[in-house]
Amino acid sequence: MRINACGVCRTDLHIRDGLLDLGGRDFAVGHEIAGTITRCGAGVPDTWLSRRAAIYYYEGCGHCRYCLTGDEHLCPTPRAQPGFNADGGFAEYICVPVRNCVPLPDHVSTAEAAIMGCAGSTAVHAGRLATIRPGEWVVVYGTGGVGLALLQYARNAGARVIAIGRGGARATLAHEHGAEYTIDATHEPDIAARVREITGEGADIVFELVGTSASIRSGMDMLRRRGRLVLIGYTQDTFQTHPIDLIVREVSFIGSVGATLSDLHEAIDLLARGVLRVPVALTLPLEDFETALEQTRKGGLPGRVVLAP
Ligand SMILES: NC(=O)c1ccc[n+]([C@@H]2O[C@H](COP(=O)([O-])OP(=O)(O)OC[C@H]3O[C@@H](n4cnc5c(N)ncnc54)[C@H](OP(=O)(O)O)[C@@H]3O)[C@@H](O)[C@H]2O)c1
Ligand SMILES: [Zn+2]
Ligand SMILES: [Zn+2]
Repeated sequence: MRINACGVCRTDLHIRDGLLDLGGRDFAVGHEIAGTITRCGAGVPDTWLSRRAAIYYYEGCGHCRYCLTGDEHLCPTPRAQPGFNADGGFAEYICVPVRNCVPLPDHVSTAEAAIMGCAGSTAVHAGRLATIRPGEWVVVYGTGGVGLALLQYARNAGARVIAIGRGGARATLAHEHGAEYTIDATHEPDIAARVREITGEGADIVFELVGTSASIRSGMDMLRRRGRLVLIGYTQDTFQTHPIDLIVREVSFIGSVGATLSDLHEAIDLLARGVLRVPVALTLPLEDFETALEQTRKGGLPGRVVLAP
């Protein structure tokens, strides 16, 4: 595939910082990839040639219990994870199995489709794990690439959404994309109390995308009884709590990693139908990848940074 767009995810920074280390060395990062198929291997029909597609970044072993049930993102012995431990999207070309290519309808932009590769599919996956029910209060804690997709997904599932961010352009985006309330974490002295005030008792679901000790604590404190906290973001921080904090309120913690191939197909479908929209703040040529990473680290941008190799 000739890569036409690769989104920059905060995980690319975690890989650079050594926080996430899947054992690969000397590979190109970048896992939000879309482009045009330029050559097909043996056994792949020519009809794939010149088609645009987004790439699914897990190549599972194909025969473990997880691969067999479509959960290859949990495969203990994957063949490769492009952008995580094998060459990914900060490049001009990539070679992947054809089943990892999700075709794009003509009217879908390549840059937006690339962002579905992680931000969009992660949102679909986490939303599915949390089983969002109509009318539930959903908090999206951190409204970056993944958070913005998640709040639209939750809204589409019938939830009432509260977005927590750091104000500025992101807060406006959160409102425009369906958040009923936005909370500016930099000005709100007690974020959990504010959520409890809005919701009556507390949130049904909190999607945690910031991943500091403080944000996870606050996320837990804003849940109602039997609420579920979905952990997606992380930093170098750890989190400690006493079991009784979970026990007496029957609170659930759910980890969510990546997505299934079917989640990516769904994300592309939601994008094509206009349910998910993902703003691109900045498009840069491949050679400016350092700027792209630094802009992402700095944050505060009105959307994703995308490289156009
Ligand atoms: N589990 C998975 O499968 C998975 C998949 C993808 C990503 N991730 C992880 O999920 C996290 C989010 O990824 P992303 O690509 O969406 O990152 P991102 O685009 O950088 O978004 C992070 C957002 O969090 C906001 N934020 C930072 N500190 C905050 C605070 N204290 N309170 C409120 N908001 C705060 C940032 O605000 P500003 O805009 O003002 O900077 C930004 O909007 C990262 O840790 C990433 O590695 C996990
Ligand atoms: Zn990612
Ligand atoms: Zn497997």
